[in-house]
Amino acid sequence: MALLFASPDDDPIAWREALQRRIPDLEVRVFPEIGDPAEIEAALVWLPPPGLLASLPRLRAIFSLGAGVDRLLEDPTLPADVPICRMVDPSLTASMAEFVLLHALRYHRDLDVYEQQQRRAEWRLVMPRPASATVVGLLGLGELGGASARLLVRHGFTVRGWSRTRKTIEGVRCFAGPEELHPFLAEVGVLVCLLPSTPATRGILNAELFARLPRGARLVNLARGAHLVEQDLLEALGSGRLAHATLDVFTREPLPSDHPFWRHPRITVTPHTASYSLPESGAEIIAENIRRLRAGAPLLHRVDRQRGY
Ligand code: NAP
Ligand code: GLV
Repeated sequence: MALLFASPDDDPIAWREALQRRIPDLEVRVFPEIGDPAEIEAALVWLPPPGLLASLPRLRAIFSLGAGVDRLLEDPTLPADVPICRMVDPSLTASMAEFVLLHALRYHRDLDVYEQQQRRAEWRLVMPRPASATVVGLLGLGELGGASARLLVRHGFTVRGWSRTRKTIEGVRCFAGPEELHPFLAEVGVLVCLLPSTPATRGILNAELFARLPRGARLVNLARGAHLVEQDLLEALGSGRLAHATLDVFTREPLPSDHPFWRHPRITVTPHTASYSLPESGAEIIAENIRRLRAGAPLLHRVDRQRGY
């Protein structure tokens, strides 16, 4: 069986070695060196060129190198009957939870305020408070949101979470469904978005949602740029409705150099770097799915195409 590897961001050699250590007879072909397309039965991909997967006539499984599969699903030529599995991997989860904790701490300890003060050479202390005084709200309580919530609880934050179906996570006040979105938001001082991008969640970070947060709340979007209505964010920062935002993901990536977010004094931009899967860790789950594919067993972490995640 041949597996096609295609990603503009990940190291193909490291992935090939990590996979072949687990499945020595696996042939890994790296895009664009496809060889005979009819020999490829599985693909491991991140942002593959549209049409690539449709050009593989004997493809039996698509493994996403990312947790989010929105870009894959946008490809109109995506083969309709081939299962898609998303990345669920301890290294991806741990690095996301770490990034969420980092930003919760940054806002909790008012570093965004001190950055503003430094520009004015202003020496003014904000009295530190216990972590429990900061309410962190997670939009999405799946693999990444759930792990982030647990780490925040361990650190002493007051944590709330919102998901489609109700969750039970020790120490986290869990809300579910559209009717509980506004009660969820009511006391959140740091809002972190970890939702998949689907028709139901695109544009969810908008003026109406910002108006439900306490005045001066901070926003952290680590999910997808499509969740955010950019103009609404600029207006919310201008009016003081939101105090600051950290954005890791954007509708256009790389973020164009003339985009107003780059130079906004109350926005931190990071280059879609919150979390990545390390080959040594991620290859474990891909290898398990290849074994299952060969054995005709159910694949792990299958995407529900109707739901979009
Ligand atoms: P996941 O395990 O599928 O969890 C998604 C969560 O969102 C679930 O709790 C789900 O609720 C909830 N959700 C989905 N649609 C909803 C809706 N309409 N209303 C309320 N809640 C909804 O996904 P994950 O592995 O945590 O990943 C989340 C996203 O993070 C990915 O899709 C990707 O876009 C993003 N991501 C970003 C980076 C980065 O570096 N910036 C890295 C990895 C992932 P239910 O469980 O009730 O269905
Ligand atoms: C990264 O954005 C991912 O979806 O894993």
